[in-house]
Amino acid sequence: MNEQQRPRFTYLGHSTVRCDLPGGQVILIDPWIDSNPVCPQAVRTFDRLDAILITHGHADHMGDAVEICQRHKPKTVVANFEICQWLTSHGVTGCSPMNTGGAQEVCGARVTMVPALHSSSIQDGDRLVYGGDPGGYVVRLANGFTFYHAGDTALFSDMRLIAELLAPTLAFLPIGDLFTMDPRQAAHAARYLEVEQVIPVHWGTFPALTGTPEGLRAELDALRVACEVITLAPGESW
Ligand code: NI
Ligand code: MN
Repeated sequence: MNEQQRPRFTYLGHSTVRCDLPGGQVILIDPWIDSNPVCPQAVRTFDRLDAILITHGHADHMGDAVEICQRHKPKTVVANFEICQWLTSHGVTGCSPMNTGGAQEVCGARVTMVPALHSSSIQDGDRLVYGGDPGGYVVRLANGFTFYHAGDTALFSDMRLIAELLAPTLAFLPIGDLFTMDPRQAAHAARYLEVEQVIPVHWGTFPALTGTPEGLRAELDALRVACEVITLAPGESW
């Protein structure tokens, strides 16, 4: 697959990823920008924003969703049912709810919500509101290119089913440890997923997130898994 056929991915730091599709549409996964301490100024604004995908309710994934939607008015906002209800009640339009196992068309791509082993709640003032189940997304472009953003998750063996049924070739996997997989679990995830490339996310944002891309590479080598680790610093594109 040549470079024209896959999206251009820009890492905004932590778990936030901008995807510029070959057709020009822009999809933002996990809108945490304004209060994201590692997101560079240069990538905080958008020339266009067509859709947002939200993996779960935690503030480091959707903490700035309402403001970003007010500024950029994306046509579609995809999240689980509970998060969509909450966003709609806070003035966000275009919510398109789904739930684990379902799929829908977004910007001409097929977006499937897959499980994540984590929790999900929404910070609403000084209260935590039920945020439904956490998830990840597998995005299949019209040309067939398929990638997976795992959101926050532990390792789970049903990642094999994601490989079998949806066959992504690239995965954004959390590696920071403490709240998600560490590099060792992420290496096993890459093995289950049979992906060719992994872009590590959810690392380096805070000192408590200790997993590193070098650690992931070492664990993949130890497992003899032939998978490329693509390390992006916040602000970098691939
Ligand atoms: Ni989380
Ligand atoms: Mn998180």
